Amino acid sequence: MKPYYITTAIDYTNAPPHIGHAYEKVLADVMARFQRLNGREVYFLTGVDQHGQKVQKSADKAGQSPQEFVDGVTAHFVSLWEKLNVRYDGWAATTDPVHKRVVQTMLQKLHDCGQLYKQGYKGFYSVRQEQFLTDKERGPDGNFGEEWGEVVELEEENWYFRLSDHVEWLKGYIRSHPDFIYPAHRANDVLNALEGTPQDLCISRPIERLSWGIPLPFDERFVNYVWFDALTNYISFAGYLADESGNGDVGLPDFSKLWPSEAHVIGKDILVPAHAVYWPIMLHALGFSDEQIPRLIVHGWWNVKGAKMSKSLGNVIDPNVLAATFTPDGLRYYLTRDIATGYDSDFSDERIIMSYNKELAGGLGNLLNRSINMAQKYRASVLTPGTYDDAENAALRQTVTDALPAYLENMSSWAIHDGIAAAWKIVSAANAYVDSTKPFSLAKDPAQAARLDSVLYHLAEAWVHVSVLLNPIMPTAMATARAQIGWEMPEGFQFSDLKWGMLKEGHQLGAPVPLFPRLEITETAD
Ligand code: MSP
Repeated sequence: MKPYYITTAIDYTNAPPHIGHAYEKVLADVMARFQRLNGREVYFLTGVDQHGQKVQKSADKAGQSPQEFVDGVTAHFVSLWEKLNVRYDGWAATTDPVHKRVVQTMLQKLHDCGQLYKQGYKGFYSVRQEQFLTDKERGPDGNFGEEWGEVVELEEENWYFRLSDHVEWLKGYIRSHPDFIYPAHRANDVLNALEGTPQDLCISRPIERLSWGIPLPFDERFVNYVWFDALTNYISFAGYLADESGNGDVGLPDFSKLWPSEAHVIGKDILVPAHAVYWPIMLHALGFSDEQIPRLIVHGWWNVKGAKMSKSLGNVIDPNVLAATFTPDGLRYYLTRDIATGYDSDFSDERIIMSYNKELAGGLGNLLNRSINMAQKYRASVLTPGTYDDAENAALRQTVTDALPAYLENMSSWAIHDGIAAAWKIVSAANAYVDSTKPFSLAKDPAQAARLDSVLYHLAEAWVHVSVLLNPIMPTAMATARAQIGWEMPEGFQFSDLKWGMLKEGHQLGAPVPLFPRLEITETAD
């Protein structure tokens, strides 16, 4: 079977990461880990978008060369991914010579088949958005709105891509491929954007205006415009045109085995026009068939009190601060449990504190701690399943068995928050089971010894299942939990290997250590 090829957007390196960036990478990492446990080989690509005018400007301001500047910002991203356990297989940095060679080979290919042409143009240009503006972009008062920043009048020659030739194809493709975009309702936004007279796409900037980019191979007085450069990362680092570009020996994956990607994980702001119009049309123009068009997974945004995070509002949330307070896994949990994939969510101190103290410390951690503690106290940490059974045991076993299919269905369809909720049914049921079976009372009555054995066994066994199901979300904490249960997930273990009865007679549990110690806080640093 073909590997599950998953990518994320590559992050702009003009500023350090915030929780929006962290969410996207954690979301993709959760899916990559889920797919591996689901029996798929996975290739996970992420990286950084290092070219463009914004970077050139920020570097000038900082008194650094663009390369020095992007190297500095890139280091913040890399260290955050390391901290948050985002484990990727490929790193896409657009200044990497591997990437530049493919972009140039691809541009030459499009040039050779007549898809690019040069033309003069006079018009208004947004420096902030790096694009020419048309009357469509004017507000009701006839002016260009604040979102465009500084707008200047420019006259220059540029290279254009024959985007408009392929718009009819794209409309047909979108209508006949309802799976192209998740969530499906976003396809309407794309079709609406394709209404009206199609325009071609300017793909260059004269070198005097922008030098921090990849030169066009057929006209070195121009560099490639950022989107054409950035989007290509999904194929350049997957081995596209490796031999033709001179990347034959650099250890890239085999493109024919990897492509198409089953998930380009991106935010809603870069769906139209970049990922849903430019990208499929670029691939189509390069000769990719309809079956070779990648799938787009479009997530929503994390806002703060309903507002967009921005430097000027001073409301940017630093994931490093949150990871230091709530642990990296605590942050991964919050970022995946408190948002429905495809929709927006609001970051709040109260919610992250609640998710940590009530759910992780109080619900999950407490269950583990009391299960392991009681087994240590009453049975010297040795499990004896025995033959005792009753309706309460049967009900807990049923909850554990039923959780798996619900979890698998939700997780594989990107409803991560519902997948977590499905796994959490075991946690809630097991906590209620402790409350109702009262092992501390059973321990006082020698006639209840067999029942106590079965209760301790059921709790430990339920934990094995929880530790596998929540592993994609909280890999470190779940490995710690397994060490306490004394059960290691074997190499190559899959969800389909999970059956009731993973722990055998005489199983030795480890020592209890609080998994998520309760935090005495009411507010965070942010
Ligand atoms: N460099 C481009 C993407 C090129 S992909 C070929 C870019 N970079 S970005 O740094 O601005 O954004 C990177 C990703 O983070 C995007 O998918 C974007 O949607 C996402 N997010 C940025 N802010 C976000 C939130 N506040 N919340 C959730 N995701 C957000 O766009």
